[in-house]
Amino acid sequence: MKLVFATNNKHKLQEVRDIIGSGVEILSLADINCNEDIPETADTLDGNALIKARYIYEKYNVNCFADDTGLEVDVLDGAPGVYSARYAGDGHDSEANMRKLLENLTGKNNRNAQFRTVIALIIDGEEKLFNGIVKGTITEEKRGDSGFGYDPIFVPEGYSESFAQMDSRTKNSISHRYRATKQLSEYLKKI
Ligand code: IMP
Repeated sequence: MKLVFATNNKHKLQEVRDIIGSGVEILSLADINCNEDIPETADTLDGNALIKARYIYEKYNVNCFADDTGLEVDVLDGAPGVYSARYAGDGHDSEANMRKLLENLTGKNNRNAQFRTVIALIIDGEEKLFNGIVKGTITEEKRGDSGFGYDPIFVPEGYSESFAQMDSRTKNSISHRYRATKQLSEYLKKI
């Protein structure tokens, strides 16, 4: 089976190919000559993942899936959520995003949060959603310098290190993206 993953991000492609294995060929947007910037205009993660998957399915007529991820903080009613990449503005500046989040949590005792990845799959017109969640807490200040995005200020449940202090293998074995992709992989094995 062939499936298009609506991304050109090499790290995401590699991670997904490693998890799904050789039974399914995962193609990128570049592989189907799709160079458009697909709009992400929904106000939920599910909505954005579906917009991207439907766009590819309808325009290119191929079975496909798309993902969207956000960091959801309890006392901020789930913010930054779907706006995680542009929380501090359209610059997609991780440092500014983390600063804004830490500022908004100043003086708050409840620092519970979760990363959530939604994958929307479309096979022969049938849509299916998968959710991968990793719960944790937001630190008071940045810790560690590997990873990307909000990694330096997120400590997953059951660990004392932030995502940015862990080696990438450990992070990738418990991450929201891993968990969503694993569900996709299990589903694909059954059909
Ligand atoms: P995307 O949907 O994968 O592009 O993720 C949206 C945004 O969520 C990214 O720009 C990051 O700010 C944040 N994010 C997603 N995954 C991670 C992660 O594993 N660690 C830290 N931040 C992440």
